[in-house]
Amino acid sequence: MKKNQIKTVKGFNEVLPPESFRWRLVEDKFRDLLEGYGFAELRLALLEPTELFARSIGGETDIVEKEMYTFSDRSDRSLTLRPEGTASVVRAFNQYSLGKINEINKLYYVGPMFRYERPQKGRYRQFHQLGAEVFGEESFFQDAETLLMLAQLFHTLSVEGVVLHLNSLGCELCRPTFRDQLKSFLLERQTSLCSDCQRRMQENPLRALDCKNPSCREAVVDAPQINQSLCDDCRQHFSGLCTLLDNAELDYQVNPKLVRGLDYYTRTTFEFLAGGLGAQNAVAAGGRYDRLVAELGGKMTPAFGFAIGFERLMMLAGDKLAPLSSPFVALVPLGEEALRLLFPLYMELNRSAKVATLNFQQKSLKSQLKKADRDGVKYTLIVGPDELAQGVAICRNMQTKEQTQLSFDKLGEALRELYHEY
Ligand code: HAM
Repeated sequence: MKKNQIKTVKGFNEVLPPESFRWRLVEDKFRDLLEGYGFAELRLALLEPTELFARSIGGETDIVEKEMYTFSDRSDRSLTLRPEGTASVVRAFNQYSLGKINEINKLYYVGPMFRYERPQKGRYRQFHQLGAEVFGEESFFQDAETLLMLAQLFHTLSVEGVVLHLNSLGCELCRPTFRDQLKSFLLERQTSLCSDCQRRMQENPLRALDCKNPSCREAVVDAPQINQSLCDDCRQHFSGLCTLLDNAELDYQVNPKLVRGLDYYTRTTFEFLAGGLGAQNAVAAGGRYDRLVAELGGKMTPAFGFAIGFERLMMLAGDKLAPLSSPFVALVPLGEEALRLLFPLYMELNRSAKVATLNFQQKSLKSQLKKADRDGVKYTLIVGPDELAQGVAICRNMQTKEQTQLSFDKLGEALRELYHEY
């Protein structure tokens, strides 16, 4: 790369062909699956008022304190490139009163998210999520439907070795008792905690359970466990979900330390972890957030959702997807007149799918055949000066090397027939 060329911003992940083709295959599978379960797509703003994230993800989280792309626009409003999708979906749910239109709203989204994290394998500053949120359903059947649907997606994409980690964070009734217990526990170990955890301990002690700092991890090994403090309703909700997952024979591990890095969760939280991803091992994550809609100014509405890290999913699924499909025929003109003759046929054949290739640069027969071979086409259709004089084209089967002549007035018809047989 030359010195005066402009590059992307560090850590902003872009997707080039042929990888972009594989991304689309996976995205199509995701859309088909979700639409089958009654989800509809939301396409939302990438830029939001900063306050939205501070109020939803939580002011004392790593995302809000350290990772947001926040700036003032020309009117001095503080704006933030969305670091995740849930807050925006909830904002839209309230803004457009979606709860008044349908009792249950199932919404999905696909798109880029932005976090100022240290870029490394599986972790970027612009990354992409496939996400979904359900509003209006409190039942653990909803949690089970969504988790089993995700497992189904992994299965469809032949992604193996993904393990579901599951926890319940309780509700506004039972969590305060747990918070107090945890706070007292952390106070006794204050000196072993990192400065962030020490600072957050009073207002948000649960953050310490999610801290990656080795000394904090060590300090919370024997911390009180939230699943010991759940109220009856939360306990039943969680065991109802576990029973449905057991009945469906979906493997999972209950992980009482799984509190997630965002503050809005209540009850079920989960992560799908994959061994093949190294340190950044969560391929999808989410949970229930029954209070967030109301906290952002809407009516009390239970909600459950997830987001898949698209880059991480592709690391697991990429090479197991169907190979790129090859065009059926390469049109091989030798000279400008032949190119003019084949151009309308090329346009017609490709009207509904990529069937034919045509090179406009008038290359030699040898180089055009070589390219056709590399592209893996089934037939080449060669027209040179001799063929022009006779009003025919040579049709060559690239596998058998068999050649036949097709007359110009029947070219389209003959090719369509061959394509049909193929
Ligand atoms: P999250 O755990 O912050 O949750 O992100 C979800 C997934 O996005 C992660 O499991 C990971 O696969 C991917 N991801 C996160 N950060 C990065 C990064 N820097 N580079 C690459 N991939 C990344 C949420 O975002 C919640 N909104 C999920 C949710 C939806 N909860 C309820 N509804």
